[in-house]
Amino acid sequence: MEEAHVRPARPLFTEHADLRRVLHRIESMLANPPDPAGRLPWLKDLCDRLREYKPRLDAHFAAEEDGGLFDEIEDHSPGAAEAARKFCAEHPELIGRLEDLIEAASRKAADDAGFQSLLAQARDLVHTLESHEERENDLLYRVLDGGDAALD
Ligand SMILES: [Fe+2]
Ligand SMILES: [Fe+2]
Repeated sequence: MEEAHVRPARPLFTEHADLRRVLHRIESMLANPPDPAGRLPWLKDLCDRLREYKPRLDAHFAAEEDGGLFDEIEDHSPGAAEAARKFCAEHPELIGRLEDLIEAASRKAADDAGFQSLLAQARDLVHTLESHEERENDLLYRVLDGGDAALD
């Protein structure tokens, strides 16, 4: 395995861990929704956390796309290149869904149907984001291990 595989991946693993901590705080909120009377302040808090998370995710995705890590994968592990491209292709949709969620949360739908719908939307997005980053980590581990096999 060439050393070039190792150096750029370490900051990305660290970034993934940092982002996961922020996402876990959002996930904890979603796991403990408030009583109806507490919904408005809870929604404001959720909105604040999502707005804090968004620029970090923007920067993270930009770094993955432009910072050369995926170029490294494509250059040194051709079997993983297609998977790397697919991850990058998922970014615009994830950002769009996050923007939609922030907008929905900022409308502060405190009626029951609107609130339950927002909860479902948020939980689904958090799950999808976690899955995206976990699959990227899996890819990176395989490349770091010298794996060059085609990936799922
Ligand atoms: Fe990504
Ligand atoms: Fe990532």
